[in-house]
Amino acid sequence: MEFSVKSGSPEKQRISCVAVGVFDSRKLSHSAQIIDDASDGYISNLIRRGECEGKLGQTLLLHNVPNALCDRVLVIGCGREKHFNTKAFHKVNNIVATFLDERGATEVFSCITELTVKNRDVAWKVSHAVQATEDAMYRFDQMKSKKEGTRRPLRRIIFSVPSRRELPEGEKAVRTGVAIASGMNLAKDLGNLPGNVCTPTYLAEQAKALQKTYRNFTTNVLEEDEMEKQNMGALLSVARGSRQPAKLIAMEYMGGDKNQNPIVFVGKGVTFDSGGISIKPGAAMDEMKYDMCGAASVIGTLSACAELQLPINIVGIVPATENLPDGQATKPGDSVTSMSGITIEVLNTDAEGRLILCDALTYSKKYDPDVVIDIATLTGACIVPLGNHPAGLLGNHNPLINDLLNAGKTAGDRCWELPLWEDYQQQLDSNFADVANIGGKEAGTITAACFLSRFAKKYRWAHLDIAGVAWKSGKDKGATGRPVPLLMQYVFDRMGDMGIKH
Ligand code: BES
Ligand code: MN
Ligand code: ZN
Repeated sequence: MEFSVKSGSPEKQRISCVAVGVFDSRKLSHSAQIIDDASDGYISNLIRRGECEGKLGQTLLLHNVPNALCDRVLVIGCGREKHFNTKAFHKVNNIVATFLDERGATEVFSCITELTVKNRDVAWKVSHAVQATEDAMYRFDQMKSKKEGTRRPLRRIIFSVPSRRELPEGEKAVRTGVAIASGMNLAKDLGNLPGNVCTPTYLAEQAKALQKTYRNFTTNVLEEDEMEKQNMGALLSVARGSRQPAKLIAMEYMGGDKNQNPIVFVGKGVTFDSGGISIKPGAAMDEMKYDMCGAASVIGTLSACAELQLPINIVGIVPATENLPDGQATKPGDSVTSMSGITIEVLNTDAEGRLILCDALTYSKKYDPDVVIDIATLTGACIVPLGNHPAGLLGNHNPLINDLLNAGKTAGDRCWELPLWEDYQQQLDSNFADVANIGGKEAGTITAACFLSRFAKKYRWAHLDIAGVAWKSGKDKGATGRPVPLLMQYVFDRMGDMGIKH
């Protein structure tokens, strides 16, 4: 899709379509009103007759509207004006794209970016309109033998900005939105690819490709023999049952000052989680190919930062492996020694995410990080209280937690804090090793984070459990690209705090 910004009157656009909003009930937006005035009440007449109430997501496509230079006017319902929030804005932009793509309109002048969204400026609206559009247009057909395409697809969207003065910030916001959307698309592709294609080796290759594409980007991949030298016994214990070699992928995007401490993102990269010897039940096990979505979001975020050449340092660490049963596989009751020296009793081989993350967290120390944020599809338990709306958030540093909560709100990609209290730590007591890898039936998301916290004592750290948000199940199942928007917003906010201009 091609995106641009423009300021101009909607009825004067010589283009295949102009999109304008109408609020519930039957209240024309500013641009809808302009077209209505020019056309002697053409839109308001139809609306009075009950053609469109303005309910969120309603559509009304008009052809040859009098005195408008465009072929069509798409009237789109935006819901109640005072409820027109981040979510509604996303949905409306989403529908504009989906609807027009199916109707042969190849170009649209969208006035949706002129609608007021509380606390959001033009740049936010343009960037998010781009992201919502790309989200709507995303297709994953790499595994189909015949690709179906639209005959006359929507190719170009021009977002309206109020005046020429906003053009530069609008253009910049287009670039930002495109970069974030590309990062999300990359994350979605990696999540959707099957486990027999998206192996640890494949993830490593993708990460290496970024090094070729971008300036200031280096990728270093640790092989199993190197992991052994570094005593990454916990990570290696998960890889034992797999024929695919594990990889520890370290990406460095160094766009900032040399002595600026990097933000380190650590992403769980289990390319297929069968549970190992503690094997999972068969139902929906196919979906466990998305157990590398933490890794995918880290790779997507780093690629977006590099695409924008942000003046900041970001490191991405991805421990990647499969978790499979085998004669060599780690067994329940086995004890392993992590890189930190802490010994772990593996009571359940299906709690493998924390085993690979703990060594990656220990490894992260060498970057002298500003903060470390790990992102992982870590526990099914996280979906019980939170569903698939926010990611679970836990950590050892309150300001970092608040930054992530706020970034999530701004990005429309929210997270929600769960308590990481000392009280829960005892659930991880082991009779045989320093710590057990599971903490019993209760508070599974919290005890998983408790486990990680023991390896993250030396720096500011937060953990995002994305089991509920990285994937949607059901008929349209697939990866969502979350939490790339949240991580990108965190990076932008952090740059702001550090006084780095972009
Ligand atoms: N990858 C799963 C968590 C998961 C479950 C993600 C469902 C997405 C959807 C993780 O490795 C796992 O198996 N966790 C166990 C932990 C348990 C053994 C303590 C779980 O959630 O059941
Ligand atoms: Mn598991
Ligand atoms: Zn897993």
